Amino acid sequence: MRKKIVAGNWKMNKTQEEALILASEVVNMVKDEVSTDVTVVIGSPYLYLSTLQKHVEPVSNMGVAAQNCHQKASGAYTGEISAPMLKSIGIGYVILGHSERRQYFGETNEQLAEKVNIALENGLTPIFCCGESLDQRNAAGYLELVASQLTESLFHLSAEEFGKVVIAYEPIWAIGTGVTASSAQAQEMHAFLRQHIAAKYGETVADDTSILYGGSCNEKNAPELFACADIDGGLIGGASLKSREFVNIAKSF
Ligand code: 13P
Repeated sequence: MRKKIVAGNWKMNKTQEEALILASEVVNMVKDEVSTDVTVVIGSPYLYLSTLQKHVEPVSNMGVAAQNCHQKASGAYTGEISAPMLKSIGIGYVILGHSERRQYFGETNEQLAEKVNIALENGLTPIFCCGESLDQRNAAGYLELVASQLTESLFHLSAEEFGKVVIAYEPIWAIGTGVTASSAQAQEMHAFLRQHIAAKYGETVADDTSILYGGSCNEKNAPELFACADIDGGLIGGASLKSREFVNIAKSF
């Protein structure tokens, strides 16, 4: 059975004080209100990861995610953070290939394949993001285009390794725009990606892969999205910055 996951991506938001308040509110609400068969992940800026990890550790269905890591283990890469460093402070997840990283920092499918490798070598669960722009959606072949992001960054993995990856489909046109993909649009892509995974790794691996939806997901639209057969949760941006709304999304299954 694949996992239900709701992950927050705080992006570059919150001072230390604000981050601690938000995280402790989320932790308390998750303990009291969220079913233990839903995993709730907080994707915070690097600065607060260590503190948040200590906060979250006692809650069995919670984890902390970094929003990126470098593809090398160590070396002269000023300003970067490595997967072994994340491992050394007990972090469980790393968001890789977010469209903002692809767009503003030029991350390529090839580079992301290396990041996925080093994350897995260090016991981190990659939350691998994929998705198309509006122009790409309006052209033919948008399903295949998103599937090719998986092929190029993930399909070198063994079935066992692939089984440790979480996929997040985030249509770029829906991120931060208030325009959510309809549940039919999201379900179409999720089902296509699951078939694509099945063709490579078989039905069992595909059935066990959690595929999250991201892009203007909020407490109002989450129930309909999460009710779709192939949508296993969400990667939440703006709505993860408000504890009540974020936890309500985690209660939407
Ligand atoms: P929004 O939920 O703000 O649209 O952001 C989605 C996202 O990019 C999560 O990674």
